Amino acid sequence: MVFIISSGLVLVALGAWLIYTYFLSPLASIPNAGFLAPVSRLLWEFPVEYQGRITLELPKLHKRLGPLVRIGPNQVSFYSLDIYKKVHAPNSPFAKDPRVYSQFVQDGHPALFSITDPKEHAQRRRHMGIVFNRSKVPALTDMMVGTIDSWVKYLASVSAKGPVDLGPTCRALESDIVSKFAFGNAIGAVKSLHLGKEVAVIKENDIKSSKMPVYTNFPILVGLWHYLADWIFKVTGLVLSSVTSSQQFDQWADSQLLAVKDTEKAPSLSFLKVMSEERIPEQSALSEAKEMLGPGTDTTSATLAHILYALSLNQTFQEDLVSDLQAAGWSVDMSALESIPRLVASVKEGIRWTGAAAAMLPRIVPQGGYLLAGKHLPGGTMISSSPIWYLRDETAFPDPERYRPSRWLVQENTEATSLRDDYYVPFSKGASTCVGIHFAYLELFLSLSQLLKRYSIHPVKSSRVTALDHEAILPPRREWVAAVPIDRLEVMLLER
Ligand code: HEM
Repeated sequence: MVFIISSGLVLVALGAWLIYTYFLSPLASIPNAGFLAPVSRLLWEFPVEYQGRITLELPKLHKRLGPLVRIGPNQVSFYSLDIYKKVHAPNSPFAKDPRVYSQFVQDGHPALFSITDPKEHAQRRRHMGIVFNRSKVPALTDMMVGTIDSWVKYLASVSAKGPVDLGPTCRALESDIVSKFAFGNAIGAVKSLHLGKEVAVIKENDIKSSKMPVYTNFPILVGLWHYLADWIFKVTGLVLSSVTSSQQFDQWADSQLLAVKDTEKAPSLSFLKVMSEERIPEQSALSEAKEMLGPGTDTTSATLAHILYALSLNQTFQEDLVSDLQAAGWSVDMSALESIPRLVASVKEGIRWTGAAAAMLPRIVPQGGYLLAGKHLPGGTMISSSPIWYLRDETAFPDPERYRPSRWLVQENTEATSLRDDYYVPFSKGASTCVGIHFAYLELFLSLSQLLKRYSIHPVKSSRVTALDHEAILPPRREWVAAVPIDRLEVMLLER
């Protein structure tokens, strides 16, 4: 009898909640992404998101349904540059959603990317400006050039054997640059490639991001996984591969922190060192350095790989670019590189075309609610949008799937150029705009120019080149936190 009554009560409560979420909720008037969206984001989205297609599918839905689409009981996706500018304004009241950003926290010490409290975030950002501001980044040139030089030498041995697989190759370079910057010593990713391996902790970033939908909807699963892995390790001595590699990485990172404290062994320049002098608690500085390896590596490496692939298909543009670099004496000076229009155009277009930072950047509507696109969204609603949707906007970037550096060579002030500049938000905007923007530009300018100094880039299958000025079409990809091409991006490198 008790069972029948309690089951009945559960059913009534469930029925009432369903009526609420479908018909009475303040979000009920917003079009649903799928029939089950008002019940659970995971239910309608998981199959698509797990395949890395959510940021590819949602813009199509927005085209049909408008700027706001309900993607969960209290979650809304938006696609509108006006809303994007409000949500990501410098003093925006929309804070980062802790449910998502907490998944990136290393060892319980939130770093800039994962700090969600606006005041704490602003304070950490001021500290980090000491190394990331435009005026400071040129000091990293020698470190970057040295690392790129070893990579270019490594390429000689692989390119002699045949096609170069750009994905792991560029990832190794960028991981070495970022780790050398962050810790003072490179993680040894290029060396590892020499031995035919990829550093596991870097490879795992992709795998981790593919599990984000589960993690963010069921954070308890993350804890459970770590608990289980630890338990299996203690009882059986068996180590699960991802735990091993992150343990190895943690040990390596801890040893770098010790080296920083040792005045004799301390590397001359490292983010860890600068931060520890800035009175940031050492464990926070360590987490900051570790966390940087994700956003600082996947993005620039994917971009570099896409640019090299696109240049292999556009010999005329490539040779014009080489002539410009030659005329500039293969300079490594940041200001000189910034004044080579074709280099800037190829990198800017590469950043736009690759759209490497695909994640939907979730923010929380402040208390009291907010009016967006004519709808009142209650406080606590999670709203999100991917910056890369704006990079593919057809009005701002005609033929968005094409790698077309010439769009950036037009300097006149026209409606088209102001639209182009307005929609170029690869690093997002506002208080959380990418802190690594100048770092990324310098890294890409140098990697691209130093590679072109030694090699010409050619397509693997010449049949793909339909014309000399062939504009590459964006290779099929999966998009999670970062974008990952489905097929290998391969080129032939020939010594000049
Ligand atoms: C093409 C290269 C890059 C792209 C497209 C890119 C994109 C982005 C985007 C869209 C965000 C905003 C994320 C959010 O609001 O949650 C971001 C934040 C961030 N990026 Fe980058 N990024 C790039 C390179 C780098 C590099 C090279 C580094 C470091 C060496 C870096 C470090 C960071 C950090 C620490 C944040 C957090 C900033 C904050 O919350 O204040 N990024 N990046």
